[in-house]
Amino acid sequence: MLSQNHLHVSLLYIVLLTGTKYGCGGGGCGACTVMVSRYDQLHNRVLHYTVNACLQPICTLHGSAVVTVEGIGSTKTKLHPVQERIAKAHGSQCGFCTPGMVMSMYTLLRNKPHPTMEDIREALGGNLCRCTGYRPIIDGFKTFCDVSNAFNLFPQASFAMMTPGKNDCVLNKYLIPCQISDELFHMDNVLPLDPSQDLIFPPELMRMGKKRACGSLCFQGDRLKLISPVDLTNLLELKTEYPEAPVVVGNTTIGTNLLLCHLCIYCPFVEITFQLFVIYLLCVHVHAGVSVGAVCTLSSLKEEMEMAVREMEAERTRGYQALLQTLRCLAGKQIRNMATIGGNILSANPKYDLNSVLAALDCTLQVMSKGTVGQKLFTGFGKTALRPDEVLLSIDIPYSKPWEFVSAFRQAQRREFAFSIVNAGMKVVFKEGSNIVESLNIYYGGVGPTLVKVGLTPQALRCSALGRCATQEAACRFSDHVSLFHFKTSDIDPSEALGMTGVVTFLSAGDVPGQNRRMWFNNPEELFAEEEVTCVGQIIGAVVAESREQARRAAQRVKVTYQDLLPVFFTIEEAIQHQSFFDPKRKLERGDMDKAFETVDQILEDEIYLGGQEHFYMETQGLIAVPKGENGELELFVASQHAAYTQEVVGITLGIDSNKITCHVRRLGGAFGGKVMKIASLSAITATAAVKTGRAVRCVLERGDDMLITSGRHPFLGQYKVGYNNDGTIMAADITYYSNGGCTLDESSFIMEKALLHMDNAYRIPNLRGRGLVCKTYLPSYTAFRGFGGPQGLMVMESVLHEVAVKCGLPPQKVREINMYREEECYTHHKQLFSPRDMLRCWDECLDKAGYHDRLQAIQQFNTYNRWKKRGISAVPMKFGVGFSKGFYNQGAALVNIYKDGSVLVAHGGTEMGQGINTKALQIAGRILKVPMSSIHIKETCTGNVPNAAPSAASFGTDAVGMAVKVFQRSLVSDLFVLSRQLPWTMTIGVGKTAQTDLGPGYEGTAYYYFTFGACCSEVEIDCLTGDHKNLRTDIVMDVGESLNPALDIGQIEGGFVQGIGLYTIEELQFSPEGVLMTRGPSQYKIPALCDVPPQLNVHLLANAQNPHAIYNSKGIGEPPVFLASTIFFAIKEAVAAARRERGLGDSFPLSSPATAERIRMACEDQFTEMAPSPKKGTFKPWSINI
Ligand SMILES: Cc1cc2nc3c(=O)[nH]c(=O)nc-3n(C[C@H](O)[C@H](O)[C@H](O)COP(=O)(O)OP(=O)(O)OC[C@H]3O[C@@H](n4cnc5c(N)ncnc54)[C@H](O)[C@@H]3O)c2cc1C
Ligand code: FES
Ligand code: FES
Repeated sequence: MLSQNHLHVSLLYIVLLTGTKYGCGGGGCGACTVMVSRYDQLHNRVLHYTVNACLQPICTLHGSAVVTVEGIGSTKTKLHPVQERIAKAHGSQCGFCTPGMVMSMYTLLRNKPHPTMEDIREALGGNLCRCTGYRPIIDGFKTFCDVSNAFNLFPQASFAMMTPGKNDCVLNKYLIPCQISDELFHMDNVLPLDPSQDLIFPPELMRMGKKRACGSLCFQGDRLKLISPVDLTNLLELKTEYPEAPVVVGNTTIGTNLLLCHLCIYCPFVEITFQLFVIYLLCVHVHAGVSVGAVCTLSSLKEEMEMAVREMEAERTRGYQALLQTLRCLAGKQIRNMATIGGNILSANPKYDLNSVLAALDCTLQVMSKGTVGQKLFTGFGKTALRPDEVLLSIDIPYSKPWEFVSAFRQAQRREFAFSIVNAGMKVVFKEGSNIVESLNIYYGGVGPTLVKVGLTPQALRCSALGRCATQEAACRFSDHVSLFHFKTSDIDPSEALGMTGVVTFLSAGDVPGQNRRMWFNNPEELFAEEEVTCVGQIIGAVVAESREQARRAAQRVKVTYQDLLPVFFTIEEAIQHQSFFDPKRKLERGDMDKAFETVDQILEDEIYLGGQEHFYMETQGLIAVPKGENGELELFVASQHAAYTQEVVGITLGIDSNKITCHVRRLGGAFGGKVMKIASLSAITATAAVKTGRAVRCVLERGDDMLITSGRHPFLGQYKVGYNNDGTIMAADITYYSNGGCTLDESSFIMEKALLHMDNAYRIPNLRGRGLVCKTYLPSYTAFRGFGGPQGLMVMESVLHEVAVKCGLPPQKVREINMYREEECYTHHKQLFSPRDMLRCWDECLDKAGYHDRLQAIQQFNTYNRWKKRGISAVPMKFGVGFSKGFYNQGAALVNIYKDGSVLVAHGGTEMGQGINTKALQIAGRILKVPMSSIHIKETCTGNVPNAAPSAASFGTDAVGMAVKVFQRSLVSDLFVLSRQLPWTMTIGVGKTAQTDLGPGYEGTAYYYFTFGACCSEVEIDCLTGDHKNLRTDIVMDVGESLNPALDIGQIEGGFVQGIGLYTIEELQFSPEGVLMTRGPSQYKIPALCDVPPQLNVHLLANAQNPHAIYNSKGIGEPPVFLASTIFFAIKEAVAAARRERGLGDSFPLSSPATAERIRMACEDQFTEMAPSPKKGTFKPWSINI
């Protein structure tokens, strides 16, 4: 029986195959990619194409075959070459994106067994990965290209490991063929691609397709009816019978709207699918142009346009070239395979790209109508003049005429796979043989509720030769949300929800058997809000139902009555005004600030604001709680980075001892610090539900809820006063850090502590003071995120260095060098002794390998010759502390069992979330015990096996776990040595005990166990007119000591760096003035995609590096690389400065992070930005606020 929602999203829910992943539900991540095959009667062939299963209604698949990742191969049978190669190339870290990546590549190979790099790039453009940084995925897949084809993407993605005894790989400069790094993985013995082994299209479907006999189909769910008409007459009849029923074609607008608007799914309604019959399905060349069927997919449209451009004279296809330019970056491949041109037009969403171009081209829409069409096609946001009984049949796109020129533009948050912020279509017609403009069509989308036409040109999109496009202008904003920020909950009424089908129970604070709070270093946080709600996104209650849809529907029906409370504020600025800070306030100081400021040549006072960041782990937070039915025992299968903490919180909530609660963690689909704290609250709530109902309860957050509830990296404001001399030497820096902590403290004070401990970075500033204040605001509470305050603390200091260089008129790199720690024995500002030798080596080698000085000159030349494009280059050094500043957390725990047959079982306290901790633990165990890795097995993380383990965080997981495995096994090996003199290895008696090693450094002075060093140099190009930027090249030299596993370490470096690209350039969280998070999914919040990775990304591991403080001389690497992406930010700043210099403007200008297209554009002040001056603060209500 299909439920209403199953009619829509069944592929993921009802086939019960778990390989296909659910990352967002809105077509925005690609984790759910599957291959659909369908018989194409027109061309007598089988089409294979990818779709996003989350948006694919099951009913529209009648007659199609669907292949999921399980269908192509598995470890149980045999891997498909695509699966094998992504694995061998280390292209799978947490693995959550992998099935989607595999299916995209598999489908490409089904259609084209010898793809080009461009084909691969296009196929993977709609698949996001949060872990790898994409390079290893591409490295694995490009092995399917002919060598002659393997150019273009990551042309220089070769990786040099300067290991002792090996020659340093001299990296390629520009434009050379890509190399598949045989240092990181070997291609010997890989399975060849053999298309004859692929699944065949089921013959019965072929027969069915050939007959095309199916009549009208009707699918009836409990709330929704889906009818597929047999022909056009039938469609129009149905439209008359059900005038309000939407026509569902690709479902990419309707499906996402359903997800966003939960209320829609309560109203019973009818949908009519428009897919199963062919009416104007394809493009037909008619005398004056191409007539495109309204249900033609964007992929087919693209192919048709490409063919026309290839085969026709260039003059006639100028319009098609413009259309192609837009189509290439419109959504990802999967969406383009589903979405139709008709749907794109009739969604009437000004952010959609095609309308502006089609309007500029004077296209005509053919509408099947019983009457005439209104004068305007677009009557408002999401509204058209089409009557309910009308359908769009086709769009006529004319050929271009001589003297006609067309252009299309779009600017988005991300270069590809992102809705445009603004788009434009322009056509100019000159009088023959002259430069006299006869007509000009300019249309803008994204700047109003409908398409906006510039000037007074005659016609636009004509409906059946009638009607013109609307040219209204108004502000297009996100819809206003109910604001619920600071309220007293006077009444919660779940009665309506409880009466709904499938609802089992409702829980709130009163149902918690133990304590309704989660403690963290004596700071309590309520699980369910009891009296006061302090942010939008706070949990008040929970509905338990038989299915996820029922629970979601019912949750909307719980009535909560609120009573307003004051004050309410969200921003750091407002918190400072209200003096609203959490305790403790932190301060670190060395030297004598006052004296230093008296003697310096110059004093500079400035500030930098850094926005927050969403973790966007591909797998949202979730768990299953299972009551065991005996003595109150409970088992939790939970996605937690800190199983022991989850166990503790659940115990306190239920009022039972920890020994009755067992948490199991097999692996996590990414975490990045986001699954330490909040998952514990979620677990406690779910456990309460399991205990109350006596049944297993599962809780998985939808992407939007996850983003809203669990929050992410803290926004920071760094205000500084710096004293420096004219030669660039910084004598004193007094920095105040403010972070936005949200409504509870969570880990904010430790994060602030880490920011302060990192504020000196690589620089010996004799007088340095840092103050840290965590602002208490009415926002969801911010929490740990890879780097834990380090990326913010370091960024403020680098901003100081950059601005001092600008003021002194010196190259920033020179000022950095002048101020670096240089002596063999240095003390940090928190009095930790260290040697900066390897840091300086990283820096020198990075500049050298990047060819920094030569390229700086080349960039200056480029900038001289280009008015609207500018380039910039920047390099930064890095010193990053590894481990927890709280010493007692720096301990590892492991249990090693050796069985009679000689096999070894290792269980440790760390959690595998893609960072490779299990692989490294295996390596260490194998090395100590001198047994092959194949004899060792790593078990899940389980609080029953390894108790009280520390979180896997702070780049310290491997150090801690590795050392525990080593310490334990050493003692075990010596025990065993005695035995093994009498018994062969395989007969040695099984022994088991846990080893705990306390590796904790003392706190005073030595805050960290050691430092990981690195340096990075990046070059970018900006478009001064649109604010767009391209990452051109990055060189990283990283000191990881003696790498335990270079492939894993490089994977962490690249993945962290790419995450940093997101932090400093494109990931922007938008809050309404009412404090409501508006960016709640991949459609609004853009993490880096394949297009954001610099095409030339060179990663080097520093040779001859040692680290006596950690396991086998290695170093922790998880967190440090995030900060290296600040080079992209500063390179952008350099490029903007070059543009400003040309206009006689100063090099010194404010630029907040992330450096989005909008900020870059406005910083490149010119005659155009002058036309749009920023309104005065207080004179308007902003649509979004900088929190
Ligand atoms: C992740 C994602 C990214 C995207 N990125 C972009 C982007 O970068 N640029 C961009 O322009 N768009 C983008 N889109 C939007 C996408 O292009 C449109 O959703 C798509 O073109 C709509 O077509 P559809 O067939 O899926 O329409 P549906 O969702 O099936 O229908 C949309 C609307 O049009 C109506 N309709 C459709 N066809 C007809 C017809 N023939 N007659 C009458 N009514 C009809 C439907 O009733 C419905 O109201 C993106 C969408 C997603 C999900
Ligand atoms: S889950 Fe389908 S695209 Fe994200
Ligand atoms: S491996 Fe791609 S999201 Fe984790």
